[in-house]
Amino acid sequence: MENQYPALKQGHYLKNASISAMHQSVLEEIQFWNQSIAHHGAINEGRFFDLLMDVHSEVAQFLNADQEDVTILDNSSLNLNIVAMMLKEESKRDIVLVADEFPSNVLPFYHHGFNVIQVATKDGQFKTSDLEEAITSNTAAVICSIVQFATGHYTCPLELSQMCEEKSVHLILNATQSLAVFPMDLKKVKASVVTASCHKWLGAGIGGAILYLSKEFRAGKANPIAGWCSVKEPFDMKNEKPIPRDDVMSLQVGSLPFPVLAGVAAACRHWKKVGIEKVHARIMELSNHLRSELLKRDLIPLGNGLSGIVTFSVGKSLEETSELVQKMEEEKIYVNCRRGLIRVSPHYFNSEKDINALLTFLDKNLGLIP
Ligand SMILES: Cc1ncc(COP(=O)(O)O)c(C=O)c1O
Repeated sequence: MENQYPALKQGHYLKNASISAMHQSVLEEIQFWNQSIAHHGAINEGRFFDLLMDVHSEVAQFLNADQEDVTILDNSSLNLNIVAMMLKEESKRDIVLVADEFPSNVLPFYHHGFNVIQVATKDGQFKTSDLEEAITSNTAAVICSIVQFATGHYTCPLELSQMCEEKSVHLILNATQSLAVFPMDLKKVKASVVTASCHKWLGAGIGGAILYLSKEFRAGKANPIAGWCSVKEPFDMKNEKPIPRDDVMSLQVGSLPFPVLAGVAAACRHWKKVGIEKVHARIMELSNHLRSELLKRDLIPLGNGLSGIVTFSVGKSLEETSELVQKMEEEKIYVNCRRGLIRVSPHYFNSEKDINALLTFLDKNLGLIP
């Protein structure tokens, strides 16, 4: 595996919910495009357009969505700012989400003047009905990460979408921590919006985030941003009032980071080849092994135990926990400290050896007896 995923050469790499180890084929594709730009510049410019079509087609297939409904922008924060600006065209002003969400899901909506209702969770757990209870006649949308970044709590997107459909509110899903781990089927899950940053489990490198906007969500709304690439014929380079395109790609308003986009397509291809079900099964095997070993040591993981993110407290202050994580790094065991807790995120390519190295470290340094 080390030759396939270079980050594994650093030791026990268990920070995939932060930046996933990247497959060699993805790295090679990104390098190929950087080389191509360096060596050929604008010669054969048509290759950039072909790449764009290829990336959008791969991403659409990965989500089982129509190609015209997807694009890739810089990050989820940007995606959700755009969504907030579009949502402002409707009259309702409340946004319902759980308090544990990653700030990309929350801060854009405060910024654009929405009333953000944060539903409390207990030990990182909540039910779809907790979100449902917070919905009122003024609710514009429910926002939810399929897997919560800090606790690993998993929410079934289909259940959420059925609830939101019944309540006639938009569903905005964040698939950052679930993409490439859980299959995504947007023909079944009726979300208005999906955003997914591509540097997590997808392992596509940093600087790309998928954006899906349903046709129903877009209907009657203008794009809040525009540029020379959002028009029907960008290479006419005209300065007259433009005819905007009506696909989501029109939100790619100017020159693009082609190597990043190529990385996203290569990562989708890679995980499709491996098979998402196989990836999911392996991640659950490793994370369930870790969960059961932690429980034997009276360390209780947060969330509902249905994802690859395993987060627990070691009963120490934030500073002490950070120091412990730093000490782990010195022993080549790489995990995150998130909100004062230890977050471990094994991927498909990790092994039991990685989990056992972490457990041995904890036993030794915390005086634990399993
Ligand atoms: C659920 C979730 N969304 C988004 C992000 C990243 O956001 P952005 O793409 O805005 O940097 C993270 C990163 O940790 C995350 O966990």
